[in-house]
Amino acid sequence: MAKPVSIEVWNPSGKYRVVSTKPMPGTRWINLLIQNDVRLEICTEKKTILSVEDIIALIGDKCDGVIGQLTEDWGEELFSALSKAGGKAFSNMAVGYNNVDVDAANKYGVAVGNTPGVLTETTAELAASLTLAAARRIVEADEFMRAGLYDGWLPHLFVGNLLKGQTVGVIGAGRIGSAYARMMVEGFKMNLIYYDLYQSTRLEKFVTAYAAFLKANGETPVTWKRAATMDEVLQEADIISLHPVLDKTTYHLVNKERLAKMKKEAILINCSRGPVIDEAALVEHLKHNPMFRVGLDVFEEEPYMKPGLAELKNAIVVPHIASASKVIIINPNPYIKKFRY
Ligand SMILES: NC(=O)c1ccc[n+]([C@@H]2O[C@H](COP(=O)([O-])OP(=O)(O)OC[C@H]3O[C@@H](n4cnc5c(N)ncnc54)[C@H](O)[C@@H]3O)[C@@H](O)[C@H]2O)c1
Repeated sequence: MAKPVSIEVWNPSGKYRVVSTKPMPGTRWINLLIQNDVRLEICTEKKTILSVEDIIALIGDKCDGVIGQLTEDWGEELFSALSKAGGKAFSNMAVGYNNVDVDAANKYGVAVGNTPGVLTETTAELAASLTLAAARRIVEADEFMRAGLYDGWLPHLFVGNLLKGQTVGVIGAGRIGSAYARMMVEGFKMNLIYYDLYQSTRLEKFVTAYAAFLKANGETPVTWKRAATMDEVLQEADIISLHPVLDKTTYHLVNKERLAKMKKEAILINCSRGPVIDEAALVEHLKHNPMFRVGLDVFEEEPYMKPGLAELKNAIVVPHIASASKVIIINPNPYIKKFRY
């Protein structure tokens, strides 16, 4: 669109003009902005991803702040346009901010906000869901059932992986990685190996205490290990879940060589950002290793998948829905706290 045509305006006489590039859930964020003398313009254009040109048109000549989305490319062009319009703040409705060029924002004096911490449990739960679905081949079995192929119980029908006693590997044990690790360790009595640039002391303490609890109850205790290298995790883990930030150091962190280091029957989960995996290399790996399975919430070039991925039975793919749980969608309040004048 050359000019945005569909705009919803709240509090037209407000002193500050703020643009939201998308309608967002709930009304509390709207009320908070209005209480702070904001004229709020929400773009209701029926186009999923707005281009830089679209957003420049939305910013216009006077704009004090923008609330944007992870699908938008917030770099030099947009921060320059926002700054020229008098803008002082940009808030990214996302935990990750790999779509934001923070240096460009600094250059133009625009403060940047994001929403760290609000999606921890919902993202960890989706990673756990994908892990279970991949381990127990839920999608394949569901398709089989609906296709009318089930003609009676068989001992070898859709044999999957038993998680109990296996090793879960977490790459990036920050908020989400640690929450996921705890779910898998406590819920399925898995051993943990993790790799992060920093030590996750709280996670280690949790697994140690849980191991003591299991032992006291006559069960085999779980174990944990902080790996010195990422490759150690890839080689030892049965399940590997990726939870690092996306930056220059984690782009294609999982590539052809690293895929080859994983167990032939390993399961790889990605709920971080698509480019953390070299998706073309992953497609090849899945083709040549039918017992290797993957669960993906994010893709290298969203909304597209690399050719061949959609046809592979050993891949479970969902459309970036880690944040899509009711509590988060109905009550995204922590986000608004980041947006101050
Ligand atoms: N799928 C979704 O909808 C969704 C939702 C929320 C967050 N995310 C993604 O998840 C990411 C993590 O979120 P978080 O809240 O846990 O962030 P966090 O900052 O708490 O954790 C990220 C961890 O990655 C580690 N890390 C950085 N570089 C690394 C490297 N090279 N190797 C190993 N570890 C490295 C950091 O030390 C940190 O502990 C976000 O940046 C975002 O991209 C995705």
